Amino acid sequence: MPVSSTISRPASGSSLQPEASLLAVEDLTVKYRLHSGVLTAADRVSFSIAAGEIVGLLGESGCGKTTTAMSLLGLLPENARIASGRLYFRGRDLRSLAETQLRELRGAEISIIFQDSSGLNPVMRVLTQVVEVLRAHRDCNLHEAREKVKSIFAAVGLTDGERIFSAYPHQLSGGQRQRIAVAQALISEPSLVVADEPTAHLDAATAAEILACVRRMRATNRTSFLLISHDPEILRSVADRMVVMYAGQVIEHGRVEQVFSNPLHPYTRALLACSLDPSPPDHPVTRKKCFPYIPGNSPDPLEVSEGCSFAARCADRMPMCHSRRPRLLAQPDGGLVRCLKYEAE
Ligand SMILES: Nc1ncnc2c1ncn2[C@@H]1O[C@H](COP(=O)(O)OP(=O)(O)O)[C@@H](O)[C@H]1O
Ligand code: SF4
Ligand SMILES: [Mg+2]
Repeated sequence: MPVSSTISRPASGSSLQPEASLLAVEDLTVKYRLHSGVLTAADRVSFSIAAGEIVGLLGESGCGKTTTAMSLLGLLPENARIASGRLYFRGRDLRSLAETQLRELRGAEISIIFQDSSGLNPVMRVLTQVVEVLRAHRDCNLHEAREKVKSIFAAVGLTDGERIFSAYPHQLSGGQRQRIAVAQALISEPSLVVADEPTAHLDAATAAEILACVRRMRATNRTSFLLISHDPEILRSVADRMVVMYAGQVIEHGRVEQVFSNPLHPYTRALLACSLDPSPPDHPVTRKKCFPYIPGNSPDPLEVSEGCSFAARCADRMPMCHSRRPRLLAQPDGGLVRCLKYEAE
């Protein structure tokens, strides 16, 4: 398998590039065509996920997380195009698959949880739609399918059995709908789940239960997750590694405990500092107040900057930061960081 050209390889044996990756994303570049020009939403993004691993994708709104995730699933909108890069799932080149092959893979092997349960069909009873997903991907009769759906509903905390089974999505609360979306994503026991801000609109207690479900699925089925969030605390509680993105680029990548104990990039540091929450984690109001906020705005994605894309907001900015583009470099602790402070003169 080719090796990313933008990453100086970590020392051999580093856990950042697992030997047997379930998913490998290499130098992925995605562009959107707009009336006003072409926007690069993902710029040579690389990471991998091993079987049974939970990898977090962290960054502010607009940094390219959803674009990266949708590229893997072949679900980019019409005006988007993968300009370059390689995507491997179990060694298969995803970019070479026909739409029918991709459709087979989605749901059976790779499934997705959206942040607003928008994957649910509003005019179909929830039990029926989850049963349909299962029967589309697994060989079982209707009775077996219904029993399996009931057991996964219980696993995601949907205990109010019969009422929920016969309900339409709009008859349920946001938390219940999201649990159904999670059940739908997990029902066919996929190897990889892409969860795009799965807890964004949930109260803290429901969010904690969804994350507990993620941990359980990993423990019992060795399910891998790409867990996307703008909230570092979500990732801290569940991910093994995290990939931090800023303005379409990976700017830091490391094991979660490593990144939290010693964040290297000034952006990661600022994000973690402003998400530090002295209040109890199950207090929804105070958690909301503490969502990360860093003064200033991300650069205009239509403008290509000569230097570091974080320069305008960086507390550690140096004169050369405006004219030199930092590369993603391996660090002695096995992490990767894109910042000129770490580049040798
Ligand atoms: N369908 C689209 N058409 C044009 N630009 C888009 C589209 N979707 C996203 N973008 C732009 O791509 C960039 C990355 O967006 P996105 O991947 O949604 O980020 P995130 O998920 O991190 O919030 C943003 O500048 C966003 O405005
Ligand atoms: S390269 Fe310069 S501006 Fe960019 S993050 Fe590092 S110190 Fe800050
Ligand atoms: Mg998004």
